[in-house]
Amino acid sequence: MQKIKPRLLFANDAPIVTKYHPFLFLMTSKHISYSRQSIDASDIQAVTEVLKSDFLSQGPKIRAFEAVLRDYLNVKHAIVCSNGTSALHLSYLASELEGATVFTTPITFAATSNMLHAVGAKICFVDVDPVTGIMDTDALKEALELAPSSSKKAIVPVSLQGIAANLPVIHELAKKYRAMVIEDAAHSFGGTYIFGGETYKSASCAHTDMATLSFHPLKTITCGEGGAVLTNDDKLAEHVRLFLNHGLQSQPNTYVREQKIWGYNYRMSELQAALGLSQLRRIDTFVEKRRTIARYYLECLSKEPYASHLTCVPYHEGSSYHLFVVHFKDRQKRDFVYQKLKENGVETGVHYLPLYHYDLYRDLLGNMSLPGAEAYANGCLSLPIYPHLSREDQEYVLDKLAVVCQNL
Ligand SMILES: Cc1ncc(COP(=O)(O)O)c(C=O)c1O
Repeated sequence: MQKIKPRLLFANDAPIVTKYHPFLFLMTSKHISYSRQSIDASDIQAVTEVLKSDFLSQGPKIRAFEAVLRDYLNVKHAIVCSNGTSALHLSYLASELEGATVFTTPITFAATSNMLHAVGAKICFVDVDPVTGIMDTDALKEALELAPSSSKKAIVPVSLQGIAANLPVIHELAKKYRAMVIEDAAHSFGGTYIFGGETYKSASCAHTDMATLSFHPLKTITCGEGGAVLTNDDKLAEHVRLFLNHGLQSQPNTYVREQKIWGYNYRMSELQAALGLSQLRRIDTFVEKRRTIARYYLECLSKEPYASHLTCVPYHEGSSYHLFVVHFKDRQKRDFVYQKLKENGVETGVHYLPLYHYDLYRDLLGNMSLPGAEAYANGCLSLPIYPHLSREDQEYVLDKLAVVCQNL
């Protein structure tokens, strides 16, 4: 790591940067985003080939992408769709969650629970571990215990940051309380977890009924936009495919089609599938690069001047490291660091504030506050991490963070 030189930058602690503030003269043109896609020549070629081909939609690339996804995850059905939000919507629709009580986490991107609202499910937010932000299975057990035994139930854990939720324990609880389980694996594609001495892939449905992925540019692999639903259940897969394409079902040897249900157009294009297929060849390299960065950050951040001001989420062997999260002592300090890093060209993120803070959720569920979720959200900050983030840029992030810590 480079030697840390205190910068003039924070000698003046004024939080507001005006047009005339001397701070401006010291601002950098550097910009490091918290995440970024990795596109290479083979991706560009794959998409270009599709543009020159006969099919831009509903062609061979979709089928090929689904086949490779199935193999990679060792799952019976992989159904690709327009994005991670439609993947969630499709899995909830296929699971017939209207009127069901669904236990999920408030520390997630809004899509996880927005789509529950869209299908008319009753959302029940369960508290999370204050360090990882992942659903607390003791809190889940308590919530399941309180739910009326006659009501239909489902659990939607989120494998936040890239760390798989505690799926084996959730699976056992689901069996006991007769609930379905749908893993939101938007962050954790490429990640694994260990159970009973065996290694399982997140989104493989080894301990869940379904899983969903997102191929947004900031995720492990990208299709530009894209998503997938995974399941080992034939009936659920058939339902997902119907909802994906207007509820229409083809009849053999005729142009006649029947509309079985009220469906949507959530189809992925051939361009998206070609990009996804090309990216999927490099998924393990992407994840390994993210893990290498995480290890380096962890090694540096365990020392001063960082150690007295922040704590890191401990290293998770199987994490896909979609996010690299550190925690500050309180929200004021975290917000100060966020702002100062931003002024120095380092973009960080807060993933996430509890969803029940949003007015719409307050209207829906009333005022609520879960201690684990509050503790997680008040301190968390996601530092830049993506496969081609150079060592030089990692040093830059660490140097700027060191200066901020010295001024906290
Ligand atoms: C946890 C989680 N679930 C679902 C989604 C939705 O995915 P998409 O943006 O592809 O619709 C996201 C996207 O950021 C996410 O982070």
